[in-house]
Parts: sequence; structure tokens; C-alpha cells
Amino acid sequence: MTDSTDFTRAAEAAAWLRAEGLDGADVAIVLGSGLGAFAEGLEDARAIPYARIPHWPVPTVEGHAGTLVAGRLHGRRVLGFAGRVHAYEGHPMSAVAFGMRVLGRLQVPRVILTNAAGGVNTRFARGALMLIDDHINLMGGNPLVGPNDARLGPRFPDMSEVYSARLRAIATEAAGEAGIALEHGVYVAVLGPSYETPAEIRAFRALGADAVGMSTAPEAIAARHQGLEVLGISCITNMAAGVLPAPLVHDEVMETAREVRGQFIALLEGIVARL
Ligand code: HPA
Repeated sequence: MTDSTDFTRAAEAAAWLRAEGLDGADVAIVLGSGLGAFAEGLEDARAIPYARIPHWPVPTVEGHAGTLVAGRLHGRRVLGFAGRVHAYEGHPMSAVAFGMRVLGRLQVPRVILTNAAGGVNTRFARGALMLIDDHINLMGGNPLVGPNDARLGPRFPDMSEVYSARLRAIATEAAGEAGIALEHGVYVAVLGPSYETPAEIRAFRALGADAVGMSTAPEAIAARHQGLEVLGISCITNMAAGVLPAPLVHDEVMETAREVRGQFIALLEGIVARL
């Protein structure tokens, strides 16, 4: 639900961050499962636990620390979100979108959303990185449901280019330069928390999905509503249900995210350097 109190809460959080000197970022990066280490590479880093920021929702899931880290990288001011809340935790979509609304109030121009995802495209390998070209929102919810606050954006925002072609070109260039293979494709967002059935994965493949995950789409929608530029990158931490003859386990997701972390961080650094 969106209502005027969402705007007010986001404005209060933004005012608090501004008072702490944490405004003026060039880019925000939402760090998916196992990627919190990215924040450790920032210069002059300052870490703020989400719990200190007014109204900021605190995640509960393993691998999502819940810290905002502000610092510099290649001369750019970066805000790293180490940990995010998911709808499957029981948070309302307004909470899932809250960080994006705060970025909007802080006038941060762009956000990079990262996540762990299952590989639906059978050409992908576990550990691949995938640039999100577009998404299919099958979460059954949308952060813009409810009365529209025109201070955030229009009632019916355009979603024909959620993931900026300009930023995708920058990411492709950064990957090439760093010698990192970068897949690209469509991310289907589901509510979770149960993993999908093999029949669901076959259905998603038929719909045009290449990867499946439980985040990102609501944040991307809320960010575009406010006119932020968005980039999305998935780490294919496992092949989706039914692709391989083994059950899916969260430990594999975390393990792959750890294994690929170095490459993922190098890619993010290359992107930030080109902004
Ligand atoms: N399905 C949904 N979400 C995920 C998966 C998956 O296979 N892997 C990591 N996040």
C-alpha cells in the first residue's frame, strides 16, 4: 500500500540520513544474499544498522545483515544496502519498497539491485551472473497498490524500460573489460518462500523467464515510479527446480553466492567506475 504516511516516513528517514551527512550519493546498491562483503571495499566507509534509521524495516533472513554502508568507490559516493526485506518475511510491499522511497527523497539518481536467483534458462550454469533485461512480476503484489501519492510519481507509471538500457550497456562494457562472462535475460519474481515446483519452472520458461527469485521486482517498480535509473544483476546460485535431479537447498544458494562474490564485486566496481 502507498499512502501519504509512506511518503512522510521515507522523508523522515531521508532527513535523518541527511543530518548524518549521508545524502548526495551517486548510486545506491542493494546487495543480495552473500554480497554484503562489497561494502567492506568502500573507502571512508560508515556503517549504520537499519535499526537506527527511523522507520527502516529490519530483515530477518540469514545472509542479510541489515546495514546501510556509505562510502566512496572510484570517486563516486555509494550507498550500499547490506540486506533487504522480502515480502515472504511477511513485510508489506510498502516496507519492501521503503529503501527505494528513501533514495527518492535523497534524490539519489540511480540504484543497482542485485539478487540471488535460480537458473530457469538451461544454458545457464550455476555461478553465472545475469544482467536483468526485464522482469515478470508474479509476486501477486505491487508496491504502488493503494492511493497514489503524486509526490512519489504518477498513478500509472510506464514500465517499458525498467532496467536502463544505458546502465545495461555500461555493465556489459565493465564485464567485458574485467573478463567476466555476463549472461542476460528476464527475471521472474515470485513471492516464495517455498522454492518452485518443476512444473512452475517449466511454466516460467514457457513465459520467457531466464531466472527466478523472490526480490527485486517491487524495488525496481518503486524506483521507476520515482524516476530513478535502475540496473539489476542476478547471481544464478542454483539451477531452478527440476533442471537438475537434486533438491534445492538454501545452503547451496549461500555457498554459490560466496564462491562468485569476488567476480560479482569486481563487476560492481567496474560499473561504478563508469558511472
Ligand atoms: N528460486 C527462487 N528464488 C531463488 C532461487 C530459486 O531457485 N535461488 C535463489 N533464489
